Amino acid sequence: MLPLLRLLQDGRFHSGEALGAALGISRAAVWKQLRSLEAELGLPVYKVRGRGYRLASPLRLLDERKLSEEAWPVSVLHSVDSTNSEALRRLEAAQSVPFSVLAERQTAGRGRRGRTWISPFAENLYYSLVLRVEGGMRQLEGLSLVVGLALVRAIRGMGVEGVGLKWPNDLLVDGRKIAGILLELSGDPADVCHVVIGIGVNVNMMPGQASTIDQPWTSMRAVLGCGVDRNELVSGLNKQLMGYLSLHQQRGFSALLEEWQGCHLWQGRQVRLTAGAQEIVGVVLGVDVTGALRLLVDGVERHFSGGELSLRLSDDS
Ligand code: BTN
Repeated sequence: MLPLLRLLQDGRFHSGEALGAALGISRAAVWKQLRSLEAELGLPVYKVRGRGYRLASPLRLLDERKLSEEAWPVSVLHSVDSTNSEALRRLEAAQSVPFSVLAERQTAGRGRRGRTWISPFAENLYYSLVLRVEGGMRQLEGLSLVVGLALVRAIRGMGVEGVGLKWPNDLLVDGRKIAGILLELSGDPADVCHVVIGIGVNVNMMPGQASTIDQPWTSMRAVLGCGVDRNELVSGLNKQLMGYLSLHQQRGFSALLEEWQGCHLWQGRQVRLTAGAQEIVGVVLGVDVTGALRLLVDGVERHFSGGELSLRLSDDS
């Protein structure tokens, strides 16, 4: 961790003189480092005359050493464009798989359908896991839905009981988005390829902090009314992913289909599905063994798959 950040992480006031003495630098150099901390990490530092400097609130950063002992090799970065992009670059540079990349902040976090994923420093979870997929398309069928299921279990495990899924893999609480998943492939999906499983969870970010998000959203902290330990969340998520991914690898999505539907918040609801210029209104019957959405449209069952679809309750205006 950056030495200055380590000194400030308790959220208390520290005088410029004390910071300078601890770092062995002048007060002017402290001031310069504070400015670059704000610029590089987007982290506001408050200055009060006579008291010194402090962060808006105490920081609990992700613990790379502890997290590495648990599941896959983990790298925790202070700031990166996107953990998915970084994972793809590492894959290109022949880093051995599996591995995961986490970041305290993303400057160009990516969501589905070309959206931006707002990623302030040390507030949320920005997580990418890289796996090798053998066995072609069958091993990819339903994979993103299974990741959604593991994430629901991990978030419920932290006390957010009302969280559920919206096909294909949005996580919602009371109609507001709390987490999302972006899967990206590298290689030949019909043969051997790698998949980057990108997961973003709104953990401690509070409404008002991210006015640029263009859809209703919430966070674990907003739901629970108290801050959440992100290291604990990552541990729980790793455990859930290990269990669900190995079940999916051995038995396919069909073994998890019923459980997935049990977590689907829009099961049996009238919906409008937007696929490009096409709009289809129907009732959600569930999903099939490939993870495609089953809709009852004018009395006929139809199946829809692919990332270009959007689902809206038909009474939404
Ligand atoms: C969605 O639109 O619902 C998907 C959001 C996925 C965001 C995560 S954050 C970690 C990883 N890195 C990215 O750039 N995106 C994913």
